[in-house]
Amino acid sequence: MKQMLVGAKTSVLLPPVSASQSSSYGDAMDVAAQRSPDEPVHCFSPAILTSTLNTFLTGFPGEVSYAVKSNDGPHVLATLAAGGLDVFDVASVEEMMAVRAVAPEARFHYHNPVKGRNEIAIAAAQYGCVRFAADDEQEINKIVAVAGNAQELEIAIRFVLPKHGSSAHDFSSKFGAGPELAAHLLRHVVSLGCKPLLTFHPGSQCGDPAIWTTYIHAAADIARAAGVRLAALNVGGGFPSRYVGLSAPDLSVYFETIALAAAEAFGADFVPPLECEPGRGLVANCTSVLARVKLVKSTRREVFMNDGIYGSLMEVSQVALLQPNYRVIRDGKVLTGATVTCTAYGPTCDPLDVLPNKLDLAADIAEGDYIEFGPLGAYGTATSTRFNGYGPAEIIEVERVLSA
Ligand SMILES: Cc1ncc(COP(=O)(O)O)c(C=O)c1O
Repeated sequence: MKQMLVGAKTSVLLPPVSASQSSSYGDAMDVAAQRSPDEPVHCFSPAILTSTLNTFLTGFPGEVSYAVKSNDGPHVLATLAAGGLDVFDVASVEEMMAVRAVAPEARFHYHNPVKGRNEIAIAAAQYGCVRFAADDEQEINKIVAVAGNAQELEIAIRFVLPKHGSSAHDFSSKFGAGPELAAHLLRHVVSLGCKPLLTFHPGSQCGDPAIWTTYIHAAADIARAAGVRLAALNVGGGFPSRYVGLSAPDLSVYFETIALAAAEAFGADFVPPLECEPGRGLVANCTSVLARVKLVKSTRREVFMNDGIYGSLMEVSQVALLQPNYRVIRDGKVLTGATVTCTAYGPTCDPLDVLPNKLDLAADIAEGDYIEFGPLGAYGTATSTRFNGYGPAEIIEVERVLSA
């Protein structure tokens, strides 16, 4: 694992990460005390990731794949592959390349509903990809024309139902065919000789398992209306992790609900094979971010950190409901006692680089202290930019990370 980190890249947007210099630390407090890092650190727990993967592999009633977009770090991909995962939901060819670098046998579900011809061609020819998602007839025609071998192709029609309020991050606005169009597209896929599937995404951090019941019944209705036997039903990502102020049932409740809904909706004779493609629910809780305080303007209670919304904290600024926990660390210990409410800025010169919610931080917080934020394993590293020359973060293995 250590060797895989050397010289590998943590994201398509980030410069190379450096390898952890030590074996493993207990937690971010040990890292702060023993390493005094001046750059942001992603504290990564392979043990936590492997444990969450096992929860999915043993509990989900079907095939588990991983939505690479949520964290494409080589350390994450390699840990998942070592834990037995061999199917990866990818949004781009670049993600396929990142996966194959650490998992040469990996199979891909290219579930970005819109792809360029060149991307389809590379996916099919270089990566042997036969699974593509689409929510539009022209896209289906494009896939078949470019990838060829229609009989081998699996086309997953992405469908969508009206917006509901159960997810922290709504996914209904950009992709998805309504039920009627989805039935038409399924028939079209069959008429071209390809294998028909349905897929949906209930929205990220979906707190209500019953939304899957609604979607799975809709999938059965769409397949019936189309007169098509599904080769598989992909029930998406959307599985929750733990964030401040958000509660969600255990993953086991989601798995049981999905199995029951599929049996009920499709009837006893034929239930299509089920698949899921979690991102957040699989990787969020394996990583926290250790940011260092560069300056505290005491009179105005403003704290300037070395990480911010253009770095690991981008999602914090975009999705109000997805707020990580945080704590101030000094000399390897958490500062307790009186707190003050502070505005927290990232390192860039951009005035937008500020956390939308103020933080309650130790009253005597000072330059050189650390703030650990967690969980940030999903959509933290992956959405970091190089704006203002910032962005690189070292990845250090730990046993425990801060969670909500
Ligand atoms: C097609 C697809 N599948 C799965 C996911 C992962 O979603 P989540 O992180 O909510 O599990 C995404 C996220 O964008 C997606 O677009």
